[in-house]
Amino acid sequence: MIPLIDPFGRAIQYLRISVTDRCNLRCVYCMPLDGVPYDAPEEVLSFDEIMRLVNLLAGHGLRKVRITGGEPLVRKNLPELVQRLAAVPQITDLGLTTNAVLLENQAQSLWDADLRRLNISLDTLQPDRFVKIARFAKFDEAMAGLAKAEALGFAPIKLNMVVMRGVNDDEILDMAALSLDHPYDVRFLEYMPIGQVTPWEWRASYVSNEEVIQRLSERFELQPIEAASSSTSRVFQIPGAVGRVGVINPISHKFCASCNRLRLTANGALVPCLADNYEYDIKTPLRAGASDEELIGHVKAALAHKPEQSDFEGRVERGGSIRIMAQIGG
Ligand code: GTP
Ligand code: 5AD
Ligand code: SF4
Repeated sequence: MIPLIDPFGRAIQYLRISVTDRCNLRCVYCMPLDGVPYDAPEEVLSFDEIMRLVNLLAGHGLRKVRITGGEPLVRKNLPELVQRLAAVPQITDLGLTTNAVLLENQAQSLWDADLRRLNISLDTLQPDRFVKIARFAKFDEAMAGLAKAEALGFAPIKLNMVVMRGVNDDEILDMAALSLDHPYDVRFLEYMPIGQVTPWEWRASYVSNEEVIQRLSERFELQPIEAASSSTSRVFQIPGAVGRVGVINPISHKFCASCNRLRLTANGALVPCLADNYEYDIKTPLRAGASDEELIGHVKAALAHKPEQSDFEGRVERGGSIRIMAQIGG
C-alpha cells in the first residue's frame, strides 16, 4: 500500500465528503439568508462516482470518512451511500455531521445502514434563539432528531456549538451541563471566517477557546482526557458526568501539524485545506474515464497544494473564501 503523503509529510487518512451543498437551514455563520445558487444536479457527484474515489483512496491509506453537506440528510437515498461506505473494509471510522432536523425520520435507516457516529450542530437550547441563528423554526425537529439518535444508541454523539459573542455565548454553561446526564461530547467551536463575513463582523463575534475554558472552569471542574493527535478537539470530563465537553480551535491552527484530512465537495472538487481557497477539479478526469493510476495522480496533484497550516485571518484580509461553508462541508 502506497500512502498519500502531502508535502509536509502528513499521511491522508480522513476524507470529508460533502454530499450536497443544499440545506434546510440558513445558519448565520454559514449561509446567506436568501441562500446561494445551488449546484445543478448534473454537477453533483453520484454515489458511484464517490465510491470510485473512496475505494481508490482506501487502497492508499484512507481509514476515516465523514459525510457532510450542506445538510447531508437532504440528499436522496443517503442510507444507500452510508451502507456502501460502511462496507469498505479499510474504512474503520464512518461518521456524519448533520443539523438533525431530518434525523428523527432517518435515524433508523441510517442505523440499519451501519452508521454509528453522529456529530450534530446545535448552537442553542432556546427555541426563539434557534430561529435567530438558523433562521428557520425547526428547533423541535432538531431536538427530536437528537433524542431519537440517543434512543437508538448512536455513539459517540458529538454536539457542535459555534460560539458567537452576543449571540449564544451566554449558553456555554447550559450546553456543557447537557454532558452531565447525556452521553454527548458537547464541543465548543471557534467561529471561523468562511463565506461572506467581513473581518470586523467576524472579530466582533469570535470567542476564543481559552475564554470558553475560562468560563467553564468558573462553574465546573474540567478533567483533561487524552485524544488522538489528529483530533480537532481538546476534550474534558466534568467529574461524575456521563458525557464530555470539548473545544475546537481551528483559528490558531493547533491541529494542523497532524492534519490527516482531505475534502471532497458535492460538485467534485478536492479541497486540501478548509482555510485555503485552493481546489482541484477531480470530477472532470473522473467523468472522462481516467484510470485508477491517473486518478491517484490527480489526488496527489491536489495534495501538493495542502498548506502547512491554516491562515484564516490572512484569507479574510485577502478578500475571504470563495465557497461558503455549506459548499465545503466544514
Ligand atoms: P470527528 O470525526 O468526530 O473528529 O469530527 P470533526 O471534528 O473532524 O468533524 P465535525 O464535522 O464535527 O467538525 C467540527 C469542526 O471542526 C467544524 O467546525 C469543522 O469545520 C472543524 N474542522 C474539521 N476539520 C478541520 C480542519 O481540517 N481544519 C479546520 N480549520 N477545521 C476543521
Ligand atoms: N465556524 C465554525 N464552525 C462552523 N460550522 C459551520 N460554519 C462554521 C463557522 N463559520 C460548523 C457547523 C458544523 C460543522 C461541520 O461546522 O456547525 O457542526
Ligand atoms: Fe445548514 Fe450546516 Fe450551514 Fe447551518 S451550518 S446552514 S445546518 S449547512
